[in-house]
Amino acid sequence: MDRIKIEGGYPLHGTISISGAKNAALPLMASALLTDEVLTLTNLPHLADIMTMAQLLAGHGVKLTMTDEDRGTFQFDGSNIFNLKAPYDIVRKMRASVLVLGPLTARYGRAKVSLPGGCAIGARPVDIHLAALEKMGAEIQIKEGYIVAHAKDGHLNGADITFPKVTVGGTENILMAATLAKGQTILRNAACEPEISDLAECLVKMGADITGIGTNTLVINGKEKLHGATHKVIADRIEAASYAIAAAITRGRIEFKNANLKDLTAVVRILVDCGVNMIETEDGFIADAQDAYLIGTDVMTEPYPGFPTDVQAQLTALLATAGGASLITETIFENRFMHVPELARMGANINVHGPSSAIVRGVPKLSGAEVMATDLRASMCLVLAGLVATGTTIINRVYHLDRGYEHLEEKLTACGAHIERLTD
Ligand code: EPZ
Repeated sequence: MDRIKIEGGYPLHGTISISGAKNAALPLMASALLTDEVLTLTNLPHLADIMTMAQLLAGHGVKLTMTDEDRGTFQFDGSNIFNLKAPYDIVRKMRASVLVLGPLTARYGRAKVSLPGGCAIGARPVDIHLAALEKMGAEIQIKEGYIVAHAKDGHLNGADITFPKVTVGGTENILMAATLAKGQTILRNAACEPEISDLAECLVKMGADITGIGTNTLVINGKEKLHGATHKVIADRIEAASYAIAAAITRGRIEFKNANLKDLTAVVRILVDCGVNMIETEDGFIADAQDAYLIGTDVMTEPYPGFPTDVQAQLTALLATAGGASLITETIFENRFMHVPELARMGANINVHGPSSAIVRGVPKLSGAEVMATDLRASMCLVLAGLVATGTTIINRVYHLDRGYEHLEEKLTACGAHIERLTD
């Protein structure tokens, strides 16, 4: 199994081009199931999760054509869907597979999707997705590990739905379903992450009638049919935040291209509090921590526009090397401090209190170690720690990183990191 080796202690200087957002691309790909015309997506990142979604869609009968590898352009032709089952073998690899449930039930009146199991960062149920579909007239049964959905009238009906909790995937699934439902759907307390707005913009290009995009109330007037469209996936704000922290933790300076600082307001506020200089540019931004004395700060994860849970682990690495103490509160997932014991092995001083908070006391130095992580962002946290640690860090389970960071070693090497992949 591949591992990543890092010799730490080199400040990063250079330019990084930000890739298309994984978490925008996955629902966008699922939306190809809503139409019998061709959906063309550009700026799709080359990532394991994108390949998994492609495999899932191909299994349903979507014909995929790569038209421009360099630009990440793929065409998705959903004119010949012959299978409405999303099998366990694929869903267990990637929970976002559940995003085919809404589109398939909306277009065909039924679907059978493996129920995703638990996950390293939390239980992550999909009960809210299912309750919303029921409200739209679907009968849902759980049979032999599968969600079996059946629209009682042969089609879904519009409904007034208030999500009991903000859910990104739930909002995406039901938003897609509502585009083909009969009548009007109102989604209240909807998630308003930039990835959801990106999906909504693409659905509008496909002929959907959606208002309230970017807010937490979405109003969708269902259409009989959607048509083909071309859409560019937005920049990955989590990738951008991760590398901004790489600049900060190594006390370097990185310029980001194809990035959108507006999607990162909460992250910018925290990094500026710590002492990082964040400067907006024409097509991105600069994160500059040269000669900075970084200090700790308190942070709480929240749904957008709050501080993203997907940057919490990476920020923890930074706070572990900043002056003073910081309090981190995780409010989205119940088990998202799995990186802390590994950071402790590198010399970090962090106390986890219950499932939701951690006190970080900055230390002057981390030291390299052999480490491993249980999920994507926790793995990135260890990469960041390795970049500043003295000596060598070896990160196991690189497949986590391959799910969400395109050309990780190349991007960091271009900025002066001493990082390489060890293939056994
Ligand atoms: C999305 O997951 C992201 N994944 C996650 O990114 C991200 O951490 C998360 O949103 C929160 O921002 C993708 O976009 C593919 P949720 P999702 O539904 O949609 C609970 C990464 O590292 N909940 O917003 O699965 C749930 O357990 C990842 O790229 C229910 O209780 O997250 C969690 O506590 C990991 N019932 C909270 O809501 C439900 O039916 C938010 O989950 C649905 C969710």
